[in-house]
Amino acid sequence: MPSLVSVALQQQVAIITVNNPPVNALSTEVRAGLLNAINDAQLNQQVASIIIICEGRTFIAGADIKEFGHPPKAPHLPDLVLAIAYSVKPIIAALHGTVLGGGCEIALACHYRVALEGTKIGLPEVNLGLIPGAGGTQLLPRLVGVAKAIEMIVSAKPIILPSTPDNILVHEVTDIDLLHSTLKFAKNIKPAAVLVKRIFTPVLEDDLTAIEEYAHQHLIAKRKGEIAPLKALSAILLCTQLSLDEGMRKEREIFIECRNSAQSAALRYAFFAEKKAEKPMIKNHSESLKSINKVAIIGAGTMGASIAMCLIASGLNVYLVEINAENLERGTAYISNALSSSVKKGRISEQEKTAQLSRLTPTTEFNDIADADLVVEAAFESMSVKKEIFAKLDRTVTVDCILASNTSYLDINEIASVVNRKDRVIGLHFFSPAHIMKLLEIVETKYTAPYVIASAMAFAKKINKQAALVGVCYGFVGNRMYASYGREANMLLLEGCSPEQIDRAMTTFGMAMGPLAVNDMSGIDIGYKARKENPQLTTDPTYFLPANLMVESDRLGQKTGAGFYLYDDKKRRITDDHVLKIFKTAAQSLKIKQRTYTDQQISERLILAIINEGVTILLEGIVDSAETIDTIWLNGYGFPRYKGGPMFYAKKLGWDQVRERLIALHKETEKDWWLPPYYIDSFMERKGF
Ligand code: 3HC
Repeated sequence: MPSLVSVALQQQVAIITVNNPPVNALSTEVRAGLLNAINDAQLNQQVASIIIICEGRTFIAGADIKEFGHPPKAPHLPDLVLAIAYSVKPIIAALHGTVLGGGCEIALACHYRVALEGTKIGLPEVNLGLIPGAGGTQLLPRLVGVAKAIEMIVSAKPIILPSTPDNILVHEVTDIDLLHSTLKFAKNIKPAAVLVKRIFTPVLEDDLTAIEEYAHQHLIAKRKGEIAPLKALSAILLCTQLSLDEGMRKEREIFIECRNSAQSAALRYAFFAEKKAEKPMIKNHSESLKSINKVAIIGAGTMGASIAMCLIASGLNVYLVEINAENLERGTAYISNALSSSVKKGRISEQEKTAQLSRLTPTTEFNDIADADLVVEAAFESMSVKKEIFAKLDRTVTVDCILASNTSYLDINEIASVVNRKDRVIGLHFFSPAHIMKLLEIVETKYTAPYVIASAMAFAKKINKQAALVGVCYGFVGNRMYASYGREANMLLLEGCSPEQIDRAMTTFGMAMGPLAVNDMSGIDIGYKARKENPQLTTDPTYFLPANLMVESDRLGQKTGAGFYLYDDKKRRITDDHVLKIFKTAAQSLKIKQRTYTDQQISERLILAIINEGVTILLEGIVDSAETIDTIWLNGYGFPRYKGGPMFYAKKLGWDQVRERLIALHKETEKDWWLPPYYIDSFMERKGF
C-alpha cells in the first residue's frame, strides 16, 4: 500500500506530502506519518525549512470523523499540532481546496501559510457538535483576534481566500502552481523562533464583555438548542488568560466532553446519513449520464420562478416558459426583485445579479426549448394539466431530454403514462422557496431508467441541493410523513390544545417552526385541496377537521390575515380565542373529550406519528434507508439536526419503546393509523438500524 505521508527533499526544503483520498482526513496513520516526518526533519541537517502539502482535491479537510466513535489512538492531534508549533525549523502550509477542522489547526500551527486562490479555510466543528479540539480555539484568536475567531468558529462558515481583511490568515495567495510558489516563498522566510514567542502568550483583549455580548446576541442565538457553540465560546475566551499549552489542555477537555455528547453523536450521524442519501442503490447501467446545461421550466408561478432562481445561481441557462406574457412578466419580476433584495442585503453583487439574469430567457414559445437537456414542469397541481403539458413536451423536445415534474402529491407514474419516453420521466420535488431550501426529493417512477436517476443525482449536486431518492406514493416521503404530523396537530386541537401550545411544544422540541404556524404561512387551502382530490385517504371525520373548518370559513392563513392565528399588517401572529370555540363545538359534535396535555406529551405524540409513518414507508420500499428519511427531515422540514432526524431519534428511544408507545396511543385514541407494523423492532434490526 502506498504511504499516506511521504517526504522529499528539494533545495533544503523537506516537502511532506499527505495523500489520503478523498479529503486527506487525519486518520491515525496520517497523524503518525506527519509526526514522524516533522520529527525527522528537525534532526536532518540538510533541512532548513519544511512544507506540508496535500495531493488530490484538497488540503486536510479535518480529523477523520469515522474515528470519533472509537477509543482515540496515539498520536493524538493536539500533540501533532504542538510539534508543528514548537518546530525549530519554519514550517509552511501549502493550502488548497478545503482547509477545515484539524486541517485548519495544522495550518494555523505552521509558521507560514501559502494558499491557492479560492481555498476555503475554517473551523466547522460545531456543525458536528464539537469544538476545535487541537488548538483551533487558541491559535485562531492569536492570529485574527478574539472577535473574529468567535465569528468564524461559532458560525462554522469557512473563509474563501483571498478575502480582505481575512488575508491575515495567510501570508501569500497564489493563482499559479502551489508547490512552486511555496518553494519560492520558502527561500525568503525568517527562522521560526521569531514567531514562536508571539504564539505562546495569552491574547490581550480590552473589550471582552462587548465581544461576548455580541457573540450571544448575533451568533449563538442563531444556533438555538445547540451546546457546542457555547462550549466553543468558553474555550476561545481561555486564550485571554492561558498560555497556548494550558489553553490547549483545557480545550481538549471541553472537546472530549462534546465528542461524548448525544448532540455530537446525532450530528455526526447526520453528516454520514446525508452522504448515504446521495449514494442510493441504483441498478447498473451502461448509458453515460445525461449532461444538463440547458434547462426549461414550465410555469412561472412562485415555485417555477424560485426553481429558476436556484438554477441560474448555479450557472445554468434557464428558459422560463409560460402560456401568456402577463404570467411570464409576473414570474420574471419576482426573480428580478428577489435578486435586487439579495444585492441590498449584501448577499450578492450587482454584477452577480446581472450575470444571473443574463442566464434567464423568458418565453411563451415551446419551440424555444426544443433542445433543452431537462424540462422541469412546475405548473398548476392538477393531473389533467400536467398530462397535457407532458404530452406536448414529448412532441416538442429532443428524444433524450429528461422530463421532470415538480408535483408534490400527484402520481408521476400516471403523468409518465402519456409520453413515449417513459423511462426518461422523473420527479424533481423542490421545496418552497426552491432557491433557499436545500432538499430535493428525486422521485423514481416504475419506468425511470437507472441512468436517468443517476443523472438527476448528479444534477442535484451541481445545483447544490441535498438529494434524496424516493419512490412514488401520495406525498412521496416528506409530505406523506408530514401529513401524519399535521394530522396529530389537528387531533390535538380537537382534544383541547391551543395552536400556541402545540407550536410551542414543537419549537421547544427543536423544530424550526410549529406545525400550525407553518400551515398558516404556506396556506391551509393547499392541503385542503389535496385531501378533497384524494378522498380515498381516509373516511375518518376527525381527519384534519380543524384545518378544513378554517378553510371553509375563509381563514386560509397569512394570506387572508387569519388562519389558526390572526395576523397584523406586518404578518405578526396574534392569538385568536375564537378558533378554540370553533374546535370545541366540532369536538362536542363528534363526542371527542377535551382534556389538557403537557408540552412533552404533545411533542411525543407528533414525533411518534412521524416515526410510525417513516417505518411504514421503509417497509413499503418507497425509500431504501432510514438515513434518507432523516436527510429529508433535516433538510426540508426543520427537524433539529442535533437530534439526528426522526429515525435516529426513534433508535435512541429504542424501537421496542417506540412500539409500546404506538400500541398505547392506539388504545388511547382508538385510531387505527397508530397501529405500528407489528414487527417494527425486528424489522429495523434487519435494516441494520
Ligand atoms: N472524515 C472522514 N470522512 C470524511 C471527512 C472527514 N473529516 N470529510 C469528508 N469525508 C468523506 C465523506 O464521508 C465522503 O465519503 P464517501 O465518498 O464514502 O461518502 C467523502 O469523504 C467525500 O466527501 P463529500 O462527498 O462531502 O465531498 P465534497 O467534495 O462534496 O466535500 C468536504 C468535501 C467539504 C471536505 C466535506 O466532505 C466536509 O465538509 N467534510 C467535513 C469537514 C469537517 O467537518 N471537518 C472537521 C472535522 S472535526 C475535526 O477536525 C476535529 C478537530 O478539531 C480535532
